Amino acid sequence: MNYENILIEKDNGISVITINRPTKLNALNKATIEELHHAFKAEDADKTTKVIIVTGSGEKAFVAGADISEFASFSVEQGAELAAKGQELLFDFVQNLSTPVIAAVNGFALGGGLELAMAAHFRVASDNAKMGLPETSLGVIPGYGGTQRLAQLIGRGRAMEMIMTAGMVTAEDAYRAGLVNHVVAQPDLLEFTKGIATRIMNNSSVAIAHAIKVINDNYVDGVNGYQSEIKAFGDCFGTADFKEGTTAFLEKRKAVFPGE
Ligand code: COA
Repeated sequence: MNYENILIEKDNGISVITINRPTKLNALNKATIEELHHAFKAEDADKTTKVIIVTGSGEKAFVAGADISEFASFSVEQGAELAAKGQELLFDFVQNLSTPVIAAVNGFALGGGLELAMAAHFRVASDNAKMGLPETSLGVIPGYGGTQRLAQLIGRGRAMEMIMTAGMVTAEDAYRAGLVNHVVAQPDLLEFTKGIATRIMNNSSVAIAHAIKVINDNYVDGVNGYQSEIKAFGDCFGTADFKEGTTAFLEKRKAVFPGE
């Protein structure tokens, strides 16, 4: 697929997907969501990609939201379809990838932008980042999973206030609330995030994929996360990564995981 709205840069097991519509503050239009779906799927399937970082181009915005110009005249049915398709193609898709996804939030992360960052497995922000779900100021609510994931990440009361006020929080406030894991100076954002990615890559990708699934299972209706954990824990014992990890420990050497 030829990408018009995103860039992909691969380096030593880390793939950086950059949303690249800087004149629209990287707003997510339909084409960008489709390209992102394709890119995340391809990177997840590529066994040489160990960690994916998603970020926005420029220094001003990660993503300033869903593209308002595309849905301003939508009907009730089209609105519901927009949310359903977006959740399926991008937001749920990213959350459930086996490959770790880190959002490097380099500026405004608003509406669908914050929802994308929240769908990632965790977030690092630059010190100029501003985050919010301003949808109620447009007469709508977050539709890409924001009402659910924000409450999961920062608690129901804080999520209620952010969504009701449609306000933005600073990177520091986001850090204090647990919305982002780290805040770093803007010029250092990508290198810092790649540093975390490198630490992740030292570990078993098979075990990490199990961990992502089991952690997510806590939020799936009708699924008992403790039972999922028991099953996945057992499954790890049948992997080449487990053999290598335990053997390397006993031989007092660094493990070299085959990823199987
Ligand atoms: N959808 C479509 N276009 C958007 C957009 C969005 N979510 N966010 C920004 N843009 C566009 C602007 O329309 C403008 O385009 P133009 O130059 O063709 O007019 C361009 O990006 C630059 O944005 P601008 O508003 O001029 O920048 P600013 O620095 O004055 O303000 C923001 C920055 C982020 C505060 C402001 O753009 C904004 O409030 N965006 C919408 C945020 C939002 O409500 N997101 C949730 C959508 S559900």
